[in-house]
Amino acid sequence: MLRRLSQTQPESFVFTADNLAWAQGQISKYPEGRQASAIIPLLWRAQEQEGWLTRPAIEYVAGLLGMAYMRALEVATFYFMFQLHPVGSVAHVQICGTLSCMLCGAEDLVAVCRDKIAAKPHTLSPDGKFSWEEVECLGACANAPMAQIGKDYYEDLTAERLSWLLDEFAAGRVPLPGPQNGRYAAEPLGGATSLTGHIAGRAEHNASVQAAADLGDTIKRIDGTEVPLTTPWLGGLAKSKG
Ligand code: FES
Repeated sequence: MLRRLSQTQPESFVFTADNLAWAQGQISKYPEGRQASAIIPLLWRAQEQEGWLTRPAIEYVAGLLGMAYMRALEVATFYFMFQLHPVGSVAHVQICGTLSCMLCGAEDLVAVCRDKIAAKPHTLSPDGKFSWEEVECLGACANAPMAQIGKDYYEDLTAERLSWLLDEFAAGRVPLPGPQNGRYAAEPLGGATSLTGHIAGRAEHNASVQAAADLGDTIKRIDGTEVPLTTPWLGGLAKSKG
């Protein structure tokens, strides 16, 4: 799939003071001459700051790492985790369109996105709240069809359920991720047939859903308040000097 930078770009990008301090902590993990190894966390951080990865942000990160801009561009355009176009202010919806999901109804989910968000992928909804795209396998094939919304997986979807989820997000609510058909995880729909000794006393939700439930928000961008951004090899928190 061809991944190009957006035609619409801001003038410039700089990290906030806290993000710059955190970035410098990440760079310090690597031996002299290997700073480019920090490219992925720094690009991710830039994306979290702005919502999507702009060309000025890629150039800025390349500059921080002493890399040729083309090298940073190669990384940014390779990974689907990097959004090269503006995304919805509430959520960007990634529909898995690979084999299991396609066989189980991914096209119906894409139709919901076309209907409720925008006719074409990487296009903002009229209210600017949502965007969508089709992506390759997200590794939750046993719970097909599925979508990644924000940082979590919504699995065992139907068109009706995805439509409802989008309405919930639009209304400012954050629906619980994970299987949407009552399954705990990826066990048979009729219930687990093995490892049944682990059922008694387990948490209300599977581990990733429980983490999302505890956090209470699956679409919030990382800003360092969720978990302190530590740089223990430097002796503590990644803190700006300002
Ligand atoms: S085919 Fe959709 S998650 Fe693997």
